[in-house]
Amino acid sequence: MKEVRIGILGGGTVGGGLIDLIAQQRSVLERRIGVQIRIVAVADRSWQKKAHLQNQDFDVTDDPQGVIARNDIDIIVELVGGLEPARQWVLSALESGKSVVTANKALLANHGAEIFELARAKNCGIGFEAAVAGALPVIRNMRRVWVGSDIHEMFGILNGTCNFIITRMQKEGMPYEEALQIAQEKGFAEADPTFDVSGRDAAQKLAILSSLAFDHLVQEKDIKVEGITELSPLDHAMALRMGRVIRLLAVARKDGDGYLLRVHPALIAQDHLLASVEEENNALFTDDKYSGSTMIVGRGAGAFPTASAVLGDIAALARPASSPEVWLSSGKAVRASEDALYRFYLRFRTVDQAGVLASIAHELAVQEISIASMHQEEGPEPVDVVILTHDARESQLEKALTRINSLDIVHGPSVALRLEEPGRH
Ligand SMILES: NC(=O)c1ccc[n+]([C@@H]2O[C@H](COP(=O)([O-])OP(=O)(O)OC[C@H]3O[C@@H](n4cnc5c(N)ncnc54)[C@H](OP(=O)(O)O)[C@@H]3O)[C@@H](O)[C@H]2O)c1
Repeated sequence: MKEVRIGILGGGTVGGGLIDLIAQQRSVLERRIGVQIRIVAVADRSWQKKAHLQNQDFDVTDDPQGVIARNDIDIIVELVGGLEPARQWVLSALESGKSVVTANKALLANHGAEIFELARAKNCGIGFEAAVAGALPVIRNMRRVWVGSDIHEMFGILNGTCNFIITRMQKEGMPYEEALQIAQEKGFAEADPTFDVSGRDAAQKLAILSSLAFDHLVQEKDIKVEGITELSPLDHAMALRMGRVIRLLAVARKDGDGYLLRVHPALIAQDHLLASVEEENNALFTDDKYSGSTMIVGRGAGAFPTASAVLGDIAALARPASSPEVWLSSGKAVRASEDALYRFYLRFRTVDQAGVLASIAHELAVQEISIASMHQEEGPEPVDVVILTHDARESQLEKALTRINSLDIVHGPSVALRLEEPGRH
């Protein structure tokens, strides 16, 4: 099997996540992309202090330039961050004919033109999905999927720290400082949160997205930025009274023959899709003349979400044109689950007489289904009895319902609805 060899610069949060992810998903990756991804070397200035860089089967060094110069490496993955020396390293990797994958939004928002020009001249690939909104495939959509688009407007919730703080303030009526402290305790905000809460981080991401959407060079300096530090619980309360919520929005819109480019806290209608984006989540809402409105939502940061976007870029560069298709790559038939555990909403139409509830409860108990709550509607017969169960097996519920439906006190077949709780498993 063909091998693609990568060199990683920066073995911190995202670099460490990438090393783990490649190790954990090795065989899946080989099956899906038909290529072995091998980490050849990692450069990190303090590698001696990092447990995940010890006793690995790749070389570890504190010399990024040395890794870039190696001729047994195909792709350089830049995960150091910042403008310099990351810029020099990326340029030098491209100069030597290597493709580059980077998560560095600051670098692209300020030096994107120079980097892409060199990549074009050298015919090298460059992947930067992780630079905007972590695990969300917004860059790939812009570059590869929406190729015929004419996006006239987009709104991003592009900073998880700000969104976490804002939704805590909104939901719990707490002041900015308290919400920031919780964000820091949970690891969603840096000790110095200025870069995030000032809106600059979101502005760098918007610069990258706007460049792709509008085919013009957009840089961080083109974007007007306001942060979230002046928001108070009163602003949130007043917004709610007006049927709105506050979010830090990154906005790009066609405006005559120019573009309106802003990052600022804004009031949006409570029933807009963007208002449902809460906590540390990110989202991108685009309005395209052809495909209409679309929203992508999910984790915008963190070791694995970001590493998964980096890995997607590596795979895209590594995948040979002749690689096996992902469809049915394992060839094995799936084993579908016959039975499953669910909480159920049950409704029975019954006669209005003593002992009805006890009879239903008894049949459920025989099948070891326990009741979380019970409610009986008043009114002329037949009356509705509604029960919410704790976790129960589908097979056991089926048996209980067969028994209950055969009771004289029950009119007609009962209704059983499953409670689906997305994200719980
Ligand atoms: N973390 C996220 O959730 C996230 C999400 C999206 C994008 N990103 C982007 O991903 C990139 C990496 O972020 P990260 O969170 O992984 O940062 P990080 O944890 O600070 O990792 C950076 C690593 O590079 C090392 N390093 C810094 N300067 C170096 C130098 N001159 N030579 C060699 N090694 C050097 C650091 O060593 P020290 O430990 O000594 O500092 C650290 O191990 C950044 O561009 C960031 O914007 C991160």
